[in-house]
Amino acid sequence: MNWSELPRPIVCLAPMDGITDSAYRRIVREVSRETILFSEFTSADGYLRSDKIRRRLDYRPEEHPYFVQLFGNNPDAFAETARALEQAGVAGIDINMGCPARKIVASQHGSGLMQDVKLACRIVGAVARAVPLPVSVKTRLGWHDARDLPEFAGALADAGAALITIHGRTYDQAFHGEADWAPIYALKRRLAVPVLGNGDVADVADGLRRMGPLDGFMIGRAAIGNPWAFRPGPAAPPDTVERLDVVRRHYAYAREARAERHALIEFRKHLAAYLRGFTGAKAARVRLMRMESEAEFLAALDELAHRAPPLAKAG
Ligand SMILES: Cc1cc2nc3c(=O)[nH]c(=O)nc-3n(C[C@H](O)[C@H](O)[C@H](O)COP(=O)(O)O)c2cc1C
Repeated sequence: MNWSELPRPIVCLAPMDGITDSAYRRIVREVSRETILFSEFTSADGYLRSDKIRRRLDYRPEEHPYFVQLFGNNPDAFAETARALEQAGVAGIDINMGCPARKIVASQHGSGLMQDVKLACRIVGAVARAVPLPVSVKTRLGWHDARDLPEFAGALADAGAALITIHGRTYDQAFHGEADWAPIYALKRRLAVPVLGNGDVADVADGLRRMGPLDGFMIGRAAIGNPWAFRPGPAAPPDTVERLDVVRRHYAYAREARAERHALIEFRKHLAAYLRGFTGAKAARVRLMRMESEAEFLAALDELAHRAPPLAKAG
């Protein structure tokens, strides 16, 4: 796969730790055949050491095009992990240079790499030399502001990055304030490689309105509990029955990889998001969130399907 040759717009599920596992990616794939799927961010060093971390990146053929996002600060570990992932058949490798979590930044991973251009470029170069796959970078506007963005992104492209995604917030902003896309448009005009915008996109139609000269966009938070954000074209919002079918299927996929209790607890964050769209189902929602067994959980979903009034709104 080659980013430059993909049809525009390029629409992607943003990588989200704890959310975009194989189960959820399969659900998004069922909604949209074209969406490009990204894994949760995964430690390049951890991949080499731990079976558990390697298993996190397992995927199914229908998830293609499937990209793995790695974080770390050691170019050799990135290269070795990229080689293993190429063997595993992934479509490409994305490098996280945007995570603002203190633990990550303190050890010069994620956003920390925005402050060490040389190391950031060594990592990109190491992966690009190690595998014939496309290498991309996901980063932010900058540390305090977008002043250094053109230079930083230009250096990454020179080092071998074939696509750059910019989340329109600075490190300082973390997830606060509104995403600013203007510096991303300005970057696109200066950069030869494709550029994706990210930040506050509600769905595909909203992404199309925002993308301007860009090659495409990623959708993150708006897709949690709402895979329909990726539906192409105008379509009626999913009704209660369709929504609950997807919830059941999502849970069944998640359960394939986890024991009952673990699956139920892990699924709560998805469930809370799926149920946001329901009106008049507060009691059922509270009960569902407390379910201790799968049998109870599935029975409560059935009950909700029969009792819930129609949805007030989509998403
Ligand atoms: C729960 C959660 C987990 C995230 N994990 C990652 C991650 O693993 N890698 C990454 O590059 N960004 C991660 N992000 C950031 C998103 O990919 C995206 O850049 C950000 O949420 C802004 O886009 P949005 O407004 O569409 O959500 C995460 C965001 C959230 C809310």
